[in-house]
Amino acid sequence: MKKLLAMLLAASMVVSLAACGGGGTTSTPAPAETGTTETTPAETGSAGGNLVGVAMPTKDLQRWNQDGENMKAQLEAAGYTVDLQYAANDIPTQVSQIENMIANGCEVLVIASIDGEALGTVLDQAKEKDIPVIAYDRLIMNSDAVSYYATFDNWNVGVKQGEYIVEALDLDNAGDKTYNIEYITGDPGDNNINFFFDGAISVLQPYIDAGTLVCPSGQTEKQTVATANWASDAAQSRFENILASYYADGTQLDVVLASNDSTALGVANALASSYTGAYPILTGQDCDIANVKNIVAGTQSMSVFKDTRDLAAKTVEMVDALMKGSEPPINDTETYDNGTGIIPSYLCEPVVCTTENYQELLVDSGYYTEADLAS
Ligand code: BGC
Repeated sequence: MKKLLAMLLAASMVVSLAACGGGGTTSTPAPAETGTTETTPAETGSAGGNLVGVAMPTKDLQRWNQDGENMKAQLEAAGYTVDLQYAANDIPTQVSQIENMIANGCEVLVIASIDGEALGTVLDQAKEKDIPVIAYDRLIMNSDAVSYYATFDNWNVGVKQGEYIVEALDLDNAGDKTYNIEYITGDPGDNNINFFFDGAISVLQPYIDAGTLVCPSGQTEKQTVATANWASDAAQSRFENILASYYADGTQLDVVLASNDSTALGVANALASSYTGAYPILTGQDCDIANVKNIVAGTQSMSVFKDTRDLAAKTVEMVDALMKGSEPPINDTETYDNGTGIIPSYLCEPVVCTTENYQELLVDSGYYTEADLAS
């Protein structure tokens, strides 16, 4: 009896896990990161399915867990066998994971790089073996082994953050009023920061030029405001320093342009510990659970939602086409030059998320449950 119960329990767990993956529910808790094998391809059991290697950067940030799980579930549903690896944000680990994928006979590689500049040599091996490479979310630079790029419209992510700021501060009607702004973006090895940051600045530049937006710390250059590994604790300590040095005398901080949620979280923590003025506008990106809670609580103004289910689905279509020798879907052949030429891309659409629409966007769509967002 006990045995039967245990079997039934195990079976129901398998069913509910499958339903979770297949339905795209994304509140996957992050399992401990080993930096080595995450999934044993042989265990996935899709008989005769061709092997797809999926290399993800880290389990530290919520979105990559969702991306990996969504892609694995969708690829398996399409009949492929998946070798999914996370590299603990360690470049040599990611390189050796990709080497193993090539050695193990993966027929397509999907790679979200840690450092877009660091994979040239290992990808030469893929090219020699005619293995197509899809750069996932982050463009892999200076390698002619990259066949396709699946991502979001990253420039538009920045533009939406910039537009949000312009509207929230009503900058077009600012007159002589000035507003204090500080900036933070992500890892300098991530090509995406050029799109996020420059996209936002393209909207804010006229107001900076007019003297309406002023940066008291003087830290305005992309490289200066970058954050290694997009780490929240690094963001927090940089902002604690900024707040202590430039705002401790009561100077009002009006707005922080943060490129994503992990950096916004660090900023919010710094504000909580080291700032007593009126709360600034704070942008973000990804709609990570902690940040959606902050949006609801009023300590983050907005995030940009990038539905990882859509990106996974598009990437699976690309893999499927490559496996079958047909043309993968692309909708952009102009924007993303990786140093060897334009990489044909599919860009999914980002959407602004605020208190106004988070329920519809995130909960009603099944991306999160109410329980995920309960404080
Ligand atoms: C992604 C963002 C993410 C960041 C940190 C970027 O490449 O596009 O969605 O927040 O990496 O993981």
